[in-house]
Amino acid sequence: MCGIVGYIGTQSATEILLSGLEKLEYRGYDSAGLAAVCNGQIKSVRAKGKLHNLREKLVGMEMPANIGIGHTRWATHGKPEEYNAHPHTDDTGRVAVVQNGIVENYRELRKDLESRGHKFVSETDTEVIPHLIAEFLSNFAGNGKGGTGNRENFLEAVRQTVNKLDGAFAIAVVCADYPNEILVARQQAPISIGLGQGEFFCASDTPALVSHTQVVLSLENGEIARLTPLGVEIYNFEGDRLNKMPRILNWSPTLVEKHIFKHFMLKEIHEQPNVVRSCLEAYINSDWDAMNSLVSPTNLKLSSSLYKNLEQVEIFACGTSWHASLIGKYLLEQLAGISTTVNYASEARYAPSPLRKNTLLIGVTQSGETADTLAALAMEHQRRLDKPAEFESRLLGITNRAESSIANLVNQIIDIRAGVEIGVAATKTFVAQVMAFYFLAIDLAWQRKYLSGERIAEIINGLQKIPAQMEQMLEAQDSQIEDFAHQFNDTQDFIFVGRGINYPIALEGALKLKEISYIHAEGYPAGEMKHGPIALLDDKVPVVAIAMPGLVYEKVLSNAQEAKARDAQLIGVTPESTEADVFDSVLAVPAVDELLSPMLTVIPLQLLAYHIAAHRGLDVDQPRNLAKSVTVE
Ligand code: F6R
Repeated sequence: MCGIVGYIGTQSATEILLSGLEKLEYRGYDSAGLAAVCNGQIKSVRAKGKLHNLREKLVGMEMPANIGIGHTRWATHGKPEEYNAHPHTDDTGRVAVVQNGIVENYRELRKDLESRGHKFVSETDTEVIPHLIAEFLSNFAGNGKGGTGNRENFLEAVRQTVNKLDGAFAIAVVCADYPNEILVARQQAPISIGLGQGEFFCASDTPALVSHTQVVLSLENGEIARLTPLGVEIYNFEGDRLNKMPRILNWSPTLVEKHIFKHFMLKEIHEQPNVVRSCLEAYINSDWDAMNSLVSPTNLKLSSSLYKNLEQVEIFACGTSWHASLIGKYLLEQLAGISTTVNYASEARYAPSPLRKNTLLIGVTQSGETADTLAALAMEHQRRLDKPAEFESRLLGITNRAESSIANLVNQIIDIRAGVEIGVAATKTFVAQVMAFYFLAIDLAWQRKYLSGERIAEIINGLQKIPAQMEQMLEAQDSQIEDFAHQFNDTQDFIFVGRGINYPIALEGALKLKEISYIHAEGYPAGEMKHGPIALLDDKVPVVAIAMPGLVYEKVLSNAQEAKARDAQLIGVTPESTEADVFDSVLAVPAVDELLSPMLTVIPLQLLAYHIAAHRGLDVDQPRNLAKSVTVE
């Protein structure tokens, strides 16, 4: 969480840093700050709350600087107050640091520094970093190593400091005595370097770079970058110089604009048909025909070592990615006959299940940076080392960021190709993750000869129709649901129910609503209501029931009737043809194959959550207390 940026070049740093922070605000927005090196001094400005507060504070302030660093915070250590906002400085105010991550051993470091007379002014873990750097710098001066006259001392001080830190962090550092360099270091938290013409940038995520440059270098764990007006040098934490090649992004800066939409979330909901098209284009093999079993129906091109003697799949994920994984379990079990377990990564990392043979381990994370998911995968890999071959770790990542940290951990990636998602609430990345599971299940079903060619063809044909069906629904429902949502302005609780493959959609509908509208909402398997939750129902609690024709259709309708008998207002996510008297209102969904239905049933639930939150005047794209990329435990 938290976003960090840095700039060094010939332009005025302040505006570049602020616009970079704007693009990273989705990572945290409790407070913001920046520090620039102006006339041989560090000038630091910080403000509690969103970035616009910092902007306002800067109006009329002179900051003549071509070098600076900035930060937007999601509080971990210490309240979201100005005194805890980054950048943090040492006692002398000559070293300033921004951090994304957590320094786990900060308590002992702080105690040590305090015993040597350092004074601390914040409750953060970060503040130890500028103090340590300043102390190393003054020791070098005392040791006759040339003090600030020796250019290598700043790098060396940062290098020795990061070697003292435990935890997952990315930092950017400026020092008034070295006005021509920014030092950037990475250990388990993302940071990229942007290379422009005579100007260089760093940022926690690429959206902050694309309006300046498409040439990007991702720092790896244990690396330090020195940014100067002349170029970028990379070192490892041991101090060796490294040669690294940048890559070209080919991202249009307009990808990170809202266009005609009021919020990124709404834009991203409307992008879903094209996301599904792009996934189909990339991953369906157009050369496959149902009668010819020699080539796979998909273009996943997963290595045969991932599939060899495969007995089960184990998935690790959090939040919405966990919901997509529950649909994945359904697909892998029902289409490919592979027993699958889905774990909350945050739980599994502290309670691993007994090792099982021939298991494919999958990490599902749109950001590729979720700390719990990465830690669970790393632990699974670790505990398989030195075990017999059948326990060997086979790791697959499903992510929207092929260049993110998960890529360093797994054997292969399925890139879900959803494009940048800025809204904190995941929408298009959810449907793209579900698409990845369709492809994986189809590939495995074909490899294991679990489904006939005809059934695979039927599923693929159904998937090909999804983008147009989504478009029709969006066209018909966006304004319908906008009007419909008004009646929930004062509603305090919602229940979502579904069964089978649509149970995870009930969970996702509830999560979307609670995270952006702050309404209490629960998702349940419809058949479970009578075992307790039905006691919650009365005429003030709307119940959204997902009832799609198929195996459990009649069952869900009966469960819905049970809710109605308790006076609940019943909203059906169901085909128009469903008997009119069951539901009080219907958010209509085309009557597709039940197995494909989650791709469509999620749309009205996303729109419902969005419009309820928008009517309430809430900050849909940056809901309180949340951040898009959860890089802390
Ligand atoms: C909800 C949401 C979160 C994320 C979760 C995992 O809308 O976005 O629940 O799904 O934080 O994030 P990733 O997928 O990046 O691992």
